[in-house]
Amino acid sequence: MYKYACLNAISQKGLSCFNADYGKTDDIQGADAILVRSANMHEMHLDDSVLAIARAGAGVNNIPLDKYAERGVVVFNTPGANANGVKEMVFAGMLLAARDIVGGVNWINENVSDLNIAKDVEKQKKQYAGTELSGKKLGIIGLGAIGCLVANAAVHFGMDVYGYDPYISVNAAWNLSRSVKHINDVNEIYRECDYITIHVPLLDSTRGMIGKDAIALMKPTAVILNYARDLLVDEDAVLAALDEGRIRKYVCDFPNTKTIGHSGVLLTPHLGASTAESEENCAVMAVTQLMEFLENGNISNSVNYPSCNMGVCSSAQRIAIYHRNVKHMIRQIMDKLSNTNVANMSNTSRGEYAYTMIDLDETIRPETVAEIGRIPDVLRVRVVK
Ligand code: MLT
Repeated sequence: MYKYACLNAISQKGLSCFNADYGKTDDIQGADAILVRSANMHEMHLDDSVLAIARAGAGVNNIPLDKYAERGVVVFNTPGANANGVKEMVFAGMLLAARDIVGGVNWINENVSDLNIAKDVEKQKKQYAGTELSGKKLGIIGLGAIGCLVANAAVHFGMDVYGYDPYISVNAAWNLSRSVKHINDVNEIYRECDYITIHVPLLDSTRGMIGKDAIALMKPTAVILNYARDLLVDEDAVLAALDEGRIRKYVCDFPNTKTIGHSGVLLTPHLGASTAESEENCAVMAVTQLMEFLENGNISNSVNYPSCNMGVCSSAQRIAIYHRNVKHMIRQIMDKLSNTNVANMSNTSRGEYAYTMIDLDETIRPETVAEIGRIPDVLRVRVVK
């Protein structure tokens, strides 16, 4: 029986994918797998029993990826599973910035006792008028699952779409509308676009990416949208630019004490992926990936270990070795297995870490497993079957 723990509420539709071989525990110590959404795991102690963590969402900045890789804990995310929810929210953000819908709704609510409301709206409405999205330039920074969906939908809205992503995947490039202009210099987006939306992960290299220099290039009518992560945008620079009329609006899904109530800032409470569909899709994907890993050792959509797919083991035994990506590792492992025939094997790497899975024609002794575990740079050995 495998045990899983949930650090946040996870959609029941996802949890119901676990079969009778899985049981839920409230104690993360002793669990085989952990499901998480926003809980901060940076200072969390985990027992050696924990083999995997699945983030039901895309961002993984709440999880210490390298620390867990060093301990042989595979971390998964669910790229694309909530992309449509976020895409729709980006359009809501653009529409809220283009027209004063919030001001108009507030005015109606303040006038609930106005018996003349039907007539008064006609006098009042010009205060809340705005512009259309059609014909405006939209710059998208990051063309992953979300960026691509936003780009393609914006083309259908009649927008002139500029896309920037030096690391675009072949799959994303295939999915992108041919009407999206491929931009090689992000400054062109800052200079040209009316709406600028960012869809990249929060990394040291992307932190504060939209800062003073980027904002200095923008039009005074520019709207910045941030449905990715707060720290991608230097909010001090944004607030100063708003105060000085150098940009028009900042639409952001990550409120804080600095931005709340500031003129020109439109905030929502991290609603990007808060739809029933997105929560279900993420949970189903997270659970499916965990089960495949726990039962067969196969890895897909990990953010700290490489992918590996050897299907279901039909040999006597399957072992998985998590190790640093260093020379002579396979030779050292094979030395320990010299009395056993290898039926099938896979060795894949991702940056500093590698994963070797081996199917054997006979089972090996626990002492041999322990010997493999003592090879320098081996981080964990797991008998999968
Ligand atoms: C994500 O990282 O996928 C989004 O921020 C949505 C979420 O986790 O709520």
